[in-house]
Amino acid sequence: MNISVFGLGYTGCVSAACLAQLGHQVIGVDISYKKVSLVQSGRSPIVEPELDAMIAAQVQAGRLSATQDTGQAVNESKLVFICVGTPDDGSGAVDYKQVERACSDIGAALRSRQDFVTIVLRSTVLPGIARRKAIAALENSSGKKAGAGFGFVLNPEFLREGSGVYDFFHPAMTVIAAGDACSAATMKELYAPIDNNICFVGLDEASMIKFVNNAFHAVKVSFANEIGRLCKEMHIDTRAVYDMFIRDEKLNISPAYLQPGFAFGGSCLPKDLRTLAAAGKNLKLTLPLLGAALSSNAEHIDYAFNLITSGGKQTIGFLGLSFKSETDDLRESPYVTLVQRLLAEHYRVHVYDNNVQINGLFGVNKEFVEKNLPDLAGIFCTSAAQVIAESDVIVIANNPQKYKNDLTGLAGKKIIDLSFLGNAGFFNAAKEDYEGLCW
Ligand SMILES: NC(=O)c1ccc[n+]([C@@H]2O[C@H](COP(=O)([O-])OP(=O)(O)OC[C@H]3O[C@@H](n4cnc5c(N)ncnc54)[C@H](O)[C@@H]3O)[C@@H](O)[C@H]2O)c1
Repeated sequence: MNISVFGLGYTGCVSAACLAQLGHQVIGVDISYKKVSLVQSGRSPIVEPELDAMIAAQVQAGRLSATQDTGQAVNESKLVFICVGTPDDGSGAVDYKQVERACSDIGAALRSRQDFVTIVLRSTVLPGIARRKAIAALENSSGKKAGAGFGFVLNPEFLREGSGVYDFFHPAMTVIAAGDACSAATMKELYAPIDNNICFVGLDEASMIKFVNNAFHAVKVSFANEIGRLCKEMHIDTRAVYDMFIRDEKLNISPAYLQPGFAFGGSCLPKDLRTLAAAGKNLKLTLPLLGAALSSNAEHIDYAFNLITSGGKQTIGFLGLSFKSETDDLRESPYVTLVQRLLAEHYRVHVYDNNVQINGLFGVNKEFVEKNLPDLAGIFCTSAAQVIAESDVIVIANNPQKYKNDLTGLAGKKIIDLSFLGNAGFFNAAKEDYEGLCW
C-alpha cells in the first residue's frame, strides 16, 4: 500500500520504518526539517534499537522517504497515519493543536482527491477528541464527510520506547475503531501479517483503552515499588516475595479481581490492607497507593449510595447481603455498610440473602451483625419475592443470576444493579427502570 506517516517522532518513525519493512511504500512527513533530512539520508531521528539499520535499509530499497510537503504525501497515499504529539501542560490539560493542524493540512490535500483515502489517527486522544477535533478538522478543510468522502480510523499506539520495533511486529493487541467498512477492511489487510486477532471497537472505547492500559501499568509499577519499600525496610528478601507473587497466575497475574463491579469487603482484604498500611507507617514509610485502595473502596460505596438514593424513593430492597456470592460471611460486607447508612438516614430497608440463615447466625458472623447491624433480623425478609413486593428500589447485590427469575412484577420499581454482569435486558426490565455500575 502507499502510506504516509505524519509525525516522525518516537511512534511515527518506528511505524514508518516497520511499515516499509513489511513491503509498503511509505512517506514520512514532519514539520521539522531536521527530522525529515535525517530520514531522507537513511538515519533515525530517535534512539531506538534496530531502527537506524531499518531506516537505512528501507531508504536504500526505495520504500521509505521523507518530506515536509503535506500535499505531495497525501496525494501519493491511500492510507495516512497521524502520529503527531499530544503533550500536556503538566496538569492533565492536553494540547491537541498538533493533531488539529495535521488534520487541517491533510484535509486540504484531500479536497482534490477523487478516490477514497483512509486517515488513521494513532496519537493518544481522550474519548470524544477524535470526533470533535480530528474528524471536525478533516471535514472542515476537505469539505467532505468522514465515512463517505474519506475514511477515518482510530488505531491507538501501544509501542514501548526501547522495544518499539519488536512491539510493532509482536503487538500485545491491535485496536481499531473504523467509521466505515472499507477502512476496516484496509486495516485488517494491513495488519494481517502481524496480528490476525484485531479488536474492532467504537471510537471512544478505542481512545479509552490506551489510557486504561497506561494507568494500569503505572499502578502496577507503583504497587510493586511500595511492596519493594516495605520488604526492604522489613529486611525481607524482596526478590523471593516477587517470585512468589508473579508465580500465581490464577489470582495475581490474571483477569481475577480486575472486573469492575462493587466494592471489596469480607474478613481478609480490608483487614490485611489496613495491617500492611499500618506496618508501613510504623516503619515511617509513606505508602499512598496501599492507603488509597481503602479510600477508593469507600468512594465506590458512596457512589452506589448516591445511585440508590438519587431517585428519591424511600423503600430500598437488597437481594444479597454477604460480602460476595456463594458465602454467608457478612463481615465487612460493603452491602452491610450501605444498609447501615440507609437506615441511619431513615430509609426503609428490606433484605434477603439465600445464603444467610438469619436465625442461625453464630460465631464471628453473629458478633459482627450484633455490633454493626443490630436491626438485621427486623428487616430480613423470608424470600426475594417479599423484598421485591415491599420495595420501590431493588438493589442487586452479589450475583445477579441468582435473582434473575425472581424479578417479576417490577412495574414502577427501580433496579440498581451493583454487579458487572447484568443489564436491563438481563432482568427483563425497562431501560428507564434500570441503573447499573456499567454504562
Ligand atoms: N512515545 C511513545 O512511546 C508513545 C507510545 C504510544 C503512544 N504515543 C502517543 O503517540 C503520539 C506521538 O508521540 P511521540 O512520542 O511520537 O511524539 P513526538 O513529539 O516524539 O513526535 C511528534 C512529531 O510530530 C511532528 N509534528 C507535529 N505537528 C506536525 C504536523 N502538523 N505535521 C507533521 N508532523 C508534525 C513533530 O515535529 C514531532 O516530530 C502522542 O499522542 C503520544 O501520546 C507515544
